[in-house]
Amino acid sequence: MTSESLSITGNALTSSNQKPKYHPIIIRLEEISKIYGIDNTKVHALNNINVTIARGESCAIMGASGSGKSTLMNIIGCLDRPTSGRYYLENLDVSALPESELAIIRNSKIGFVFQQFHLLPQMSALENVVLPMIYAGVPSQERRDRAKIALERVGLGNRLHNRPNQLSGGQQQRVAIARAIVNNPVLLLADEPTGALDSQTTQEILAIFEELHHTGITVITVTHESEVASHCQRIIRFRDGKIDANKS
Ligand SMILES: Nc1ncnc2c1ncn2[C@@H]1O[C@H](COP(=O)(O)OP(=O)(O)O)[C@@H](O)[C@H]1O
Ligand SMILES: [Mg+2]
Repeated sequence: MTSESLSITGNALTSSNQKPKYHPIIIRLEEISKIYGIDNTKVHALNNINVTIARGESCAIMGASGSGKSTLMNIIGCLDRPTSGRYYLENLDVSALPESELAIIRNSKIGFVFQQFHLLPQMSALENVVLPMIYAGVPSQERRDRAKIALERVGLGNRLHNRPNQLSGGQQQRVAIARAIVNNPVLLLADEPTGALDSQTTQEILAIFEELHHTGITVITVTHESEVASHCQRIIRFRDGKIDANKS
């Protein structure tokens, strides 16, 4: 499939000669392994992972540091590829796609939120949220309108023109969430989104995730905090690159 034939319609990823299909399973990982390094420096970050996640689920991923959580999120987010195994996103085998098509999928289907926010420091909140729409080819006025709506949605309608260093940690994370949702993704991936925030701000960020989840978006959150995980419908626990079968 070429990028020209990739039509982004509604909630389904289809080729242009098909009608959009609704897939109740949004993520299917089959025997996914990830090995970093070569020879005696090899690290088996993921070891034969099998998981399905339903559309609209909210799922926490927990486990000790180094157990493979971020590696899994990077694969689910099409930021990295598995060494072996298959990954189906909305029934499409993304493990077989070239980087150019993965970039389209990341931009249109997936929102990312990270512990350290990853905002561009020289840009205002509004400009940061506009960015993913530039890649998506949204016209300029619509970009500004949609960025403003997204920032209002996370309670930052009065901070549009502030740069990240003029915002608190919680406000910066809200900007990152607005940026993550502005292209209406089907999947929101958050890797320790509250790891750098105090408990009051954590609650505020969790409330935003919960509201987004209620609109139908699938949310996957990596966290060390059981309080954060308790807001999710399901907890997947990792141990040494494997899913701890007794606990998921
Ligand atoms: N880019 C990389 N190169 C080499 N090893 C890596 C890389 N990324 C992660 N690892 C290793 O893979 C394992 C899993 O890491 P990671 O997925 O980041 O764990 P977690 O997010 O659960 O802390 C760790 O042993 C880590 O050191
Ligand atoms: Mg990690």
